[in-house]
Amino acid sequence: MFADLRARARERLEPAHWDYFEGGAGDERTMRANTGAFDRVRLLPRVLRATGPRDLRTTLFGTELAAPVLVAPTAFHRLAHPDGEVATARGTADAGTVLVVSMAATTPVEAIAAAGGPWWFQLYLQPDRGFTAALVRRVEAAGCRALVVTVDSPVFGRRERDQRNRFHDLPPGLACENMRDETGAVRDIAMDAGLGWEGIAWLRGITGLPILLKGVLHPADAELAVEHGVRGLLVSNHGGRQLDGAIAAIDALPAVAEAVGGRLPVLVDGGVRRGADVVAALALGADAVLVGRPVLWGLAAGGAEGVRQVLALLVDDLDRALALVGARTPAGCTPDLVAVR
Ligand code: FNR
Ligand code: LAC
Repeated sequence: MFADLRARARERLEPAHWDYFEGGAGDERTMRANTGAFDRVRLLPRVLRATGPRDLRTTLFGTELAAPVLVAPTAFHRLAHPDGEVATARGTADAGTVLVVSMAATTPVEAIAAAGGPWWFQLYLQPDRGFTAALVRRVEAAGCRALVVTVDSPVFGRRERDQRNRFHDLPPGLACENMRDETGAVRDIAMDAGLGWEGIAWLRGITGLPILLKGVLHPADAELAVEHGVRGLLVSNHGGRQLDGAIAAIDALPAVAEAVGGRLPVLVDGGVRRGADVVAALALGADAVLVGRPVLWGLAAGGAEGVRQVLALLVDDLDRALALVGARTPAGCTPDLVAVR
């Protein structure tokens, strides 16, 4: 479905940048496992369900989305296309869904917000709590509707493609624009191996925004997240870019969903490429999915229009898959619709 866009993206990008966007950690076993696990799923459709036109709308934290498909936070969009995150935000808004803005965005959140669509902000809690608090106030003021704290990155994954390519830094002229401090200097994003649950409690104390945790795979952590007042979970292995050897996202989902037991929305990302993948995720306990790399392919291939196209293709394929399994709504994707996983 995305083969042409992906090929065009590859043509347009410098090989080192393509590798950064496309690659994973280590031997990329987990990255391949994400798509491989979806490849293994076999659905068990129902017939004569009289679904009629499907209704894909999904509400998360008071925001109505056209479909249960969001854009995952990914870094450095101006490396993919000169219009960068502004293009991603426009394409996402056109598709009627939510953009999760990466902390490593190359565009200020105020400019992303001006594109007009709903957006959330992904945060790595920085050891400098003063800086983190100032950033939270900044994104709140700009209209952010939820905070997504990435918790799968106490250290950076071993990205061997980047090592081979000696890709470390953004080219001159590009920067992580939301990492500027009060002096205007751009700070490096710190991965904090000292971060624990008290960091989440601290964040709750400084913001009224809903907090989601991104990168939860273990059901015991899902339970702890509920106890710590988190408002949503994102089951994810970071697209296979952190712990190589980690479980595929879709394989981790059922146990997390069971532990949560409907107390919070559960989202999942990693390897979602088809409408049937979204159906499988919904059936296995997700309220919505996020997509990472396909959005980058669309962005690199065609800016805002490419992003819109990727999301429209996926949502159209989801609509078709819902009809074909006999479900009228995302909630109609029940566990019995998955025969093999
Ligand atoms: C990411 N991801 C990511 N996650 C995050 O929390 N903060 C970030 O800045 C980034 N940056 C990033 C860059 C690139 C190039 C990729 C591919 C991924 C992970 C991302 O949010 C998501 O978990 C995965 O991309 C989902 O997997 P798929 O859809 O790419 O298979
Ligand atoms: C990545 C970081 C920025 O995956 O999260 O490249």
